[in-house]
Amino acid sequence: MVEIRDLHVRFHDASREAVAGIDLTIHDGEIVGLVGESGSGKTVTAMTLSGLIERKKVSLSGEVLVGGRDILRLPRTELRTIQGREIGVVFQEPMSAMDPLMRIGAQVEEALAVHTQLTKEQRRARALEVLRDVDLPAPEEIYRKYPHECSGGQLQRVMIAAAIVTDPHLLLLDEPTTALDVTVQAQILALLRRLNQERGISMLLISHNLQVVRRICSRVAVMQRGKIVEKGEMERVFTAPQHPYTAKLINAIPHRAQR
Ligand SMILES: Nc1ncnc2c1ncn2[C@@H]1O[C@H](COP(=O)(O)OP(=O)(O)OP(=O)(O)O)[C@@H](O)[C@H]1O
Ligand SMILES: [Mg+2]
Repeated sequence: MVEIRDLHVRFHDASREAVAGIDLTIHDGEIVGLVGESGSGKTVTAMTLSGLIERKKVSLSGEVLVGGRDILRLPRTELRTIQGREIGVVFQEPMSAMDPLMRIGAQVEEALAVHTQLTKEQRRARALEVLRDVDLPAPEEIYRKYPHECSGGQLQRVMIAAAIVTDPHLLLLDEPTTALDVTVQAQILALLRRLNQERGISMLLISHNLQVVRRICSRVAVMQRGKIVEKGEMERVFTAPQHPYTAKLINAIPHRAQR
């Protein structure tokens, strides 16, 4: 379980807090959605959870409990272990998140080299296994390719494979389907749902798109200007929003929208 309690994040050079006191719980095995307009603090929340935020640039307060430990107060080495092994991260632009000069296989294996004692052969076997798990046909071929030799949808699957290679309990997905066309987007969402059901991985799915979140999340939180203005069961929020901003987001969805 992940529990965020009264989290505040302020960049030293900013006039207001990027995250202004949020509370959010992600239960084991649950997929929670985080939606809101651009600049509302979704990515900063995910960066804080994943430890990718540059601590020198921000002041942080509150608690982020991962399996009972407050990751805001852990020593750096322990934090790195949790973040490498227990929390996986997938971003919007797979192309920019990957090293163009490194083969796919080496990138998928990277976290194993850092966080496990597996031998080279074992790492390779594990990488091929997760590449298969994310429904990539011919994993051996993909393993040897460079990022530019793959399609956007393939790369997003590779990113998901790299994020689950250490068998994390939690996946943070920051706009994982935004750069993809509608068909591929639906396939990736189906993959995420399957990984959640089969492996019980909890997920935080960030999107500006309420339709995307509705497809796979059981609960949703709506952010505006660093605050969560509404949260609850997905269908309740969608059918009977309590906050005007949520209603605005819902009304912005075209009636027969596919996206
Ligand atoms: N490195 C940074 N330095 C200073 N301010 C930042 C930095 N990163 C983000 N911010 C600010 O923090 C606030 C929240 O940004 P964040 O990226 O979390 O928004 P978001 O909800 O993810 O938006 P989007 O939907 O556009 O991705 C914004 O006001 C942004 O300008
Ligand atoms: Mg963002």
